[in-house]
Amino acid sequence: MSNQDKVKKLIDLRAEAKLGGGQKRIDAQHNKGKMTARERIEMLLDEGSFEEFDMFVTHRCTNFGLEKTKFLGDGVITGHGTIDGRVVYVFAQDFTVFGGSLSETFAQKICKVMDMAMKVGAPVIGLNDSGGARIQEGVTSLAGYAEIFQRNIMASGVIPQISAIFGPCAGGAVYSPALTDFIMMTEENSYMFVTGPKVVKTVTGEDISTDDLGGGKVHATQSGVSHFLLENEEEGLMLIRKLISYLPQNNLEEAPITETNDPIDRLEDSLNEIIPDNPNMPYDVKDVIHSIVDDGEFLEVHRNYAKNMVVGFAKFDGQSVGIVANQPNYLAGVLDIESSKKAARFVRFLDSFNIPIITLVDVPGFMPGSQQERGGIIIHGAKLLFAYGEATVPKITITLRKSYGGAHDVMSSKQLRGDLNYAWPTAEIAVMGAAGAVEVLHGRKLRSIESDEERAKFVQEQEEEYKEKFANPYMAASYGYIDDVIEPRNTRFRIIRGLQSLATKKVVNPPKKHSNIPL
Ligand code: HXC
Repeated sequence: MSNQDKVKKLIDLRAEAKLGGGQKRIDAQHNKGKMTARERIEMLLDEGSFEEFDMFVTHRCTNFGLEKTKFLGDGVITGHGTIDGRVVYVFAQDFTVFGGSLSETFAQKICKVMDMAMKVGAPVIGLNDSGGARIQEGVTSLAGYAEIFQRNIMASGVIPQISAIFGPCAGGAVYSPALTDFIMMTEENSYMFVTGPKVVKTVTGEDISTDDLGGGKVHATQSGVSHFLLENEEEGLMLIRKLISYLPQNNLEEAPITETNDPIDRLEDSLNEIIPDNPNMPYDVKDVIHSIVDDGEFLEVHRNYAKNMVVGFAKFDGQSVGIVANQPNYLAGVLDIESSKKAARFVRFLDSFNIPIITLVDVPGFMPGSQQERGGIIIHGAKLLFAYGEATVPKITITLRKSYGGAHDVMSSKQLRGDLNYAWPTAEIAVMGAAGAVEVLHGRKLRSIESDEERAKFVQEQEEEYKEKFANPYMAASYGYIDDVIEPRNTRFRIIRGLQSLATKKVVNPPKKHSNIPL
C-alpha cells in the first residue's frame, strides 16, 4: 500500500466512524426529533475545538455472533474541546450504534476521558442516550458501569461533572448521572428509571407510561433527580455552556471572573418597598435576586422542584456566587423535606468548588405535621444545617423578613460561621411568630377569659408587645448576631463589598477522613 493509499485509508476510516450506525439509523434518530451524538458535541463545544479519542475502538464480544457486527467507535464518542476557550472533556453516547448500549470497550472509552479530566483538572460532560448494558456482553458491561461509577465518585468534589439525558437512561445506568453534580433532561425523548414500564407492570401490576414513570417533567418537578428541564436538546446544550461559565475548572481553582458594566454601587430603590406591610403577604424573592445581581442574570437550578426554596448561580461584579433563598411566594417559604435536601445539595456543591454562598432569608420556620415528621424532616433538615455549618467558602446572609425558630439557625446564621450577616429593617428574628408565642405564653390566661371580645383584645395587646420586642432585627443586632442593618436598596453594594473583603478568607475544618452528613 502506498503512503498515499495509507492516508486515504485513514480518511475513509474516519468517514466510516463518523457515520456511526449508518445513515438509516441516523435518519431514524432525526425522525424522533433527536440529534446524533456528533451533532450534539458540535453544538456544545466551541467551533472546531473538538479532539476525538478512540475513534477506532471496536467491541470484543463474540456472543450471539456479535463479532460480525462492529462499528468504529463502538457507540460512544469521546474526547475534549473547549467552552468559551476553557477545556472540557466530553462523552456522547451514540444511539445509532447498538442503541448506545454500553460494552466493555465503550466503558473503557468513557473511563479514559474521565481519567484525563482528573489529570488535567477539567470538567466532564456526559451526553446520555443509551439502551443500557449491552445485552450480548453480560457481566463485562456491568463491570464497565461500575468502573465509571467509581470514577464518578472519585471525581466528585474535584472536577465539575454534568450529565444531560437526551434519550433513554435506564437500569443501573442511571447511577452514573446520579453521581454527577447536575442532571438536565428534555421535555420529550428523555427518561430515566431504574426499571422500565414493562418490568413495573410485571412486578407491581401498575400500568404507567415511560414519561409518567421517568420523563423529564417527573424528574424536574417531583423526584428532583433532574436539576434542569429543557424544551429541547439545543436549549440543553446551551445551558451546559452557561452553567460552565459559573464554575471553576476544578476544586483548586476559582470560577472565572467576567466583565460587567453593571455598577457595583447601583442602588435599587424598589427594594425599599418590596416587603409588604402585612407580614403574611407574599412577594417574589426572585425579584430581589434579579435586582441585585449583575445585569439581572440568574441561572436557577431546580426551578420546578421544591419551589419554596430558590437556588442558583449569579455573578456580583463578575464573580460567581451561589444564591440560596427562601421563597415567600410558595408555601410561605417554609423549610420542608424537599427544600432542605435541594438547598443542602447546592450548598455542598458551592463549597466543593470555592463558590461563595449568598443566602436570602425569609422563612417562617420548619413545616409542621405528621407527614413531615414521618418523612424524616429531622434528618433532612439536618442536611442543610450540616451543609451550611461545614461550608468554609465566604458566606453572606441577608435577612429580608422572617427568620424564625430552628430555621433561623439553619439559614446560614452567624453561629454556623456566617461571615457577614446583614438584615433589612423589615427583618423579624425570633423563636416563633407573635400569634404562636402569645398562645404558648398566655394559654392559661386566654382560657380563663370568657368574653371573646376581651380575649381578642388581650391577644392583640400581647402580640403588639411581642412584635415590638422581637419582630425586628435590632434585638439580634444588639447581640452582634446581625453585623449591620442595611437599607434594602443598597444590598448589591453591601454584598459586593463583603465579597471583596472575604476574598482571602481561609477556614480549615478539623482533619478527618470525611464527615458523616445525615443522609
Ligand atoms: C444491545 C441494544 C440495547 C441493549 C437497544 N439495542 N438496547 N442492543 N443491548 N441494551 C439495539 C436494538 O437491538 C436496536 O438494534 C437498536 O439498539 C435500537 O433499539 P430499538 O429498540 O430499535 O429502539 P427504540 O424502539 O427507540 O427503543 C429503545 C429502547 C429499547 C427503549 C432503549 O431498545 C430497549 O428497551 N432496550 C433495552 C433496554 C434495557 O432493558 N436495557 C438493559 C437495562 S438494565 P438495531 O440493530 O435494530 O438498530 C441495565 C443494567 C445496567 O442497563 C447495570 C449497571 C449497573
